[in-house]
Amino acid sequence: MSLEIKKLVEKYQTPLYVYDFNNITNRYEELKEAFGGKKSLVAYAVKSNSNLAVIRHLANLGAGADCVSIGEVRRALKAGIKKYKIIFSGVGKRDEEIREALQEDILLLNLESEAEMKRVEMIAKELGVEARISIRVNPNVDPKTHPYISTGLHENKFGVSLDSAKRMYILAKKSEYLNPVGIHFHIGSQLTELAPIEEACGIVADLVRSLDAIGIEIKFFDVGGGVGVVYDDEVTIRPADYARAILSQLKGLDLTIVSEPGRYMMANSGIFLTRVLYEKVNGNKRFVIVDGAMNDLLRPSLYNAYHRIEAVQKEGEKSPADVVGPVCESGDFLGKDIPLPPLEHNDILVVHSAGAYGFTMSSNYNTRGRAAEVAILDGKDYLIRERESFDDQIRLEEACDISWQK
Ligand code: LLP
Repeated sequence: MSLEIKKLVEKYQTPLYVYDFNNITNRYEELKEAFGGKKSLVAYAVKSNSNLAVIRHLANLGAGADCVSIGEVRRALKAGIKKYKIIFSGVGKRDEEIREALQEDILLLNLESEAEMKRVEMIAKELGVEARISIRVNPNVDPKTHPYISTGLHENKFGVSLDSAKRMYILAKKSEYLNPVGIHFHIGSQLTELAPIEEACGIVADLVRSLDAIGIEIKFFDVGGGVGVVYDDEVTIRPADYARAILSQLKGLDLTIVSEPGRYMMANSGIFLTRVLYEKVNGNKRFVIVDGAMNDLLRPSLYNAYHRIEAVQKEGEKSPADVVGPVCESGDFLGKDIPLPPLEHNDILVVHSAGAYGFTMSSNYNTRGRAAEVAILDGKDYLIRERESFDDQIRLEEACDISWQK
């Protein structure tokens, strides 16, 4: 493995994202199998890693897509996800996004407010189509995860209360232009406990039953994403237990279970490679300055998230060091107090579990080009995104007329 990493770095340089496509296959199959004979759709959360090659790989496996912007819907379609497996979610969809989604005839528009439902109805009427919708309910369950990625409590901006949802379903049922076929919830991300998921399923399943009693037949039961992964020493949920917990709450209901995994599929299918620039000691604090930074991998700076970091092929006594990037922010770090051997210029560090919310949250801050991305499939490596150049970064500014400036 270390030898392969060295070769990849020689070939593609750093900073670099590397994804193991065989691992993505395994993750997908494991989840799909967990739902066994039941009708199910694994709608991959494109936001976690939206590289076209990643989506195409999942499309070939039969996955659907959970998208949160029309840009993601376009990526999913371009990568070959079947339109009847695409869901468009998000609290704030623009009219043109709604219009395009309806014209593309994707599986579902997932709605998050009554005001949004009115706009969807209006646009569907304008187009003369019937919009298949689901409603995101907020079951008010504490997911017991990081507050930034917890979404199922009333204090969060997501979804609507059970009462408003019921009112919305009744309105939708009466409308000529709306077809309420789905129900959705997502209580948070990086979940490591099953109880909150099971509780939320139970609450939402009761709503499905009460809707059924008034002639509103729900077909898609969307449990969102959120299955946690191992970054450090977390004990995570096994797909089989996850499926069992969900199914235990759906007795007597004939539903297609939709799940929207992102992190589960991608986090441990990816690593981030960076090279050491310098070492220095300030007072008694050791810093390892690397060529990757918060603009490449934001999770440590934004959430204080832990990613395991190791040096490739380096021996020697380890001592704690902060691994920091070149960006001009004190908050620019990839890891704190990471035990590392003595390091030299050009040594390689591997940042683990970086396949989800790594590249997709990257930016051009400090006019740093985004990293390149590489896929490994059956032992072969393929470049799936070129390193962003300076010209790529200034293209849209250069495209403007600057004759008004001296
Ligand atoms: N479905 C919905 C409606 C979501 O809001 C999310 C994630 C997912 C599915 C996928 O969740 P996953 O399976 O990946 O946990 N940037 C943060 C994560 C934000 C997640 C937002 N919603 C991070 O780096 O931890």
